[in-house]
Amino acid sequence: MTIDGPSGSGKGTVSRAAARALGWALLDSGALYRLVALAGRQAGVGLDDGPGLAQLAKASDIRFGSDPSDQEVVWLDGKEVTGAIRTEEAGNDASKVAAIPVVRAALLERQRRFAVPPGLVADGRDMGTVVFPQAEVKIFLTASAAERAARRHKQLKEKGVAATLAALSLEIAERDQRDMNRAIAPLVPGADAILLDTTGMSVDAVVERVLGVARGRLSI
Ligand code: DC
Repeated sequence: MTIDGPSGSGKGTVSRAAARALGWALLDSGALYRLVALAGRQAGVGLDDGPGLAQLAKASDIRFGSDPSDQEVVWLDGKEVTGAIRTEEAGNDASKVAAIPVVRAALLERQRRFAVPPGLVADGRDMGTVVFPQAEVKIFLTASAAERAARRHKQLKEKGVAATLAALSLEIAERDQRDMNRAIAPLVPGADAILLDTTGMSVDAVVERVLGVARGRLSI
């Protein structure tokens, strides 16, 4: 099952919950782009150096795990980087490296290796359109830009990170523009994706809808 959508649409939380409920693996593809950008910064490779970043995308040792409360834990070359890849700066860096075709190509096989029985929930921007075009269930989550900024604001506040709603709204709008208008694998719903606008919906309600669609389609 693929779950695509813009930043703040709830993809991450919903994908994790759906994977847990189904007993399936999870691919957080956005984390891969964040990791490539971080690896570039750490290695002194410029965020516009396609071949250098593609090499890091292929060769870096990337590991995903969960902490006792089922939150994602991420390691890059043996070092835990869970917090480091979740900053706004890391998100913006990721959006830049994600626009480089050789970086996307380098991550393609890496992403496909996550598909293992009994199933995979793949969370990203181009999961249903490019990486797993044969997926049986494709969901595209959206929410109004105002609601997405408010969700992100709440998340950061809970983590004790200072951020203004106005600055976040601006950043989300800029990131949407870059992700939707890039030449390669832009953020667009595939013709065969089910669109779900989560504005005003609780996480639980969205998860139920997604699971309902999956169970209906797959008879599970
Ligand atoms: O979902 P996220 O915020 O962690 O993603 C970070 C950036 O990576 C996002 O701005 C766009 C990019 N991305 C992408 O281009 N393709 C994906 N499949 C996932 C993320």
